Amino acid sequence: MKKSNALDRQRTVYLDGAFGYRQAIPFVYAEIERLARQKLSPEAWAYIAGSAGLEQTARSNESDFQHWKIVPRMLRNVEERDLSIQFLGHTLPAPFFLAPIGALEMAHPEADLAVARACGALGIPYIFSNQASVPMEECAVTMGETPRMFQLYWSRSDELAVSLLQRAEASGCSAIVVTLDTTMLGWRTRDLDLGYLPFLKGIGIAQYTSDPVFRRLLEEPLEAPSGNRRPSFDAIRTLISSAQKYPGGFWRNLRSGIGRKAVQKFTQIYSRPNITWTDLPFLRKHTRLPIILKGVLHPDDAKKALDYGVDGIYVSNHGGRQVDGAISSIEALPGIVEAVRGKAPILFDSGVRGGADAFKALALGATAVGIGRPYCYALGIGGQAGVEALLLNWMADLELTMGLSGCKNIAEIHSTILHRG
Ligand SMILES: Cc1cc2nc3c(=O)[nH]c(=O)nc-3n(C[C@H](O)[C@H](O)[C@H](O)COP(=O)(O)O)c2cc1C
Repeated sequence: MKKSNALDRQRTVYLDGAFGYRQAIPFVYAEIERLARQKLSPEAWAYIAGSAGLEQTARSNESDFQHWKIVPRMLRNVEERDLSIQFLGHTLPAPFFLAPIGALEMAHPEADLAVARACGALGIPYIFSNQASVPMEECAVTMGETPRMFQLYWSRSDELAVSLLQRAEASGCSAIVVTLDTTMLGWRTRDLDLGYLPFLKGIGIAQYTSDPVFRRLLEEPLEAPSGNRRPSFDAIRTLISSAQKYPGGFWRNLRSGIGRKAVQKFTQIYSRPNITWTDLPFLRKHTRLPIILKGVLHPDDAKKALDYGVDGIYVSNHGGRQVDGAISSIEALPGIVEAVRGKAPILFDSGVRGGADAFKALALGATAVGIGRPYCYALGIGGQAGVEALLLNWMADLELTMGLSGCKNIAEIHSTILHRG
C-alpha cells in the first residue's frame, strides 16, 4: 500500500524537470486526452471517449462539478494529512478505486493486467469488468492483498452468472458490483458512425471465453445468424480477430470457427432487459460476497436497494454512455446520500477529472470515488507505469486540495465546506 505524499511527488516532478526529464503522463487533463487520442486507433478513441446520443450527460458529468465551490478553511494545522479510508473491511491508502472498463486491449495490449499491476503496486482497489480483456483470475494473482471486486453484467444465462460469482469468490474479490444500467447497450453515436463494436471482433469477452459454463454453452447448437451477406474483406478480418482472441491455437480456432461461435453466443445472451428487483435474491443466494448495485441515480431506487438488503450503492450514469440527457452523477449524489442515511457505503463515478472533483464528491457523501476514462487514457499512453503515475498524481492532487481546504483527513471533508454556486 502506497501512502500519498503530495509534497514528495511535487518535489520529484520539479527536480526531474530541473534535470530535463519530463513526466510521461501530463498533469493538465486536456493534455492527457489529447495524447491518448494521438495514440489510440479511431475505433478505440470513439469507443472509449464516446457516449450516448448527443453526449449531453457526458458533458454535464464534468461541468456540473462546477456548481459546487469549495470554501477553504484556514489555520487548522494540516501538517499531517491522511487520505486513508476504511472500505469493506480494508484500509485503503486513498478514497479512490478504478471503475470497471471493458475491452481495455483497445487502449493497450496488456490491458486489464497492466491496470491490475498498477493497482496492486499502490493498494488502490480495482473492479474487474465483466467485459474484460483478461480473465479475472490472471489479474487477481498480480494484486496481492490489494482489494478487487468483480462487476457483473447479468446475462440471459443464470448459470453463467453463478459461475462468474464463484470465480470472483475464488479470485479473492471483496464484493460483486452488479451493473444495472446496461441491460442493453445505449445509443452510442460515435460507434454507430463507425459501425464498430469491439465484442464482435472477440475483444472484451475474455471473462466469457475463460468460463466453463460459457464454453459448455458453445457446444449447444446456435441460432443461425440473421441476414445473408456476401463475404467481404472486413468480414474475414472479423473472423480472424475472433479466432485470435479465443484461447488456444489460432489455426485450430479458425478451422473450428470457435471464435466466431463465441462472439455469436455472447451477442445472444448479453442483453437482459427483463431483470427486476425481485431477481436480486437469486444473486444473494449464490454468493456470500457483499453486493453493490452500480448505476443507481434515483433516491427511491437507493431506498429500494437497501430494502432488498444490498451492501453498497454505486452512483453512476456509466459516464453518460447509456441514457443521454440523464442527470449527472454529481447532481444525483446528494439525493442518494440523503436516501441512504449512512446505512451503506456509497461509491461514485462519472466525470471525475482530478483531485478537486473527488474532494467535492467526498464532501457530498461519497465513501469512495471511481476513476474511469482517465485511467484508460493513461493506460493507452504509458501502460502500467502510466496508470500508476496518474494514480499518484491524483492522490497528490486530492491530498493538497484537502489540506489547503483545512481538512486533515477524509472524515473532515464535509458538505459544510462546499457552497452551491
Ligand atoms: C470504454 C468504457 C468501457 C466501460 N465498460 C464498463 C463495463 O464493462 N462495466 C461497467 O459497469 N461499466 C463500464 N464503463 C463505465 C465505467 O465503469 C464508469 O462508470 C465510467 O467510465 C465513469 O465515467 P467517466 O469515465 O466519464 O468518469 C465503461 C466506461 C468506458 C468509458
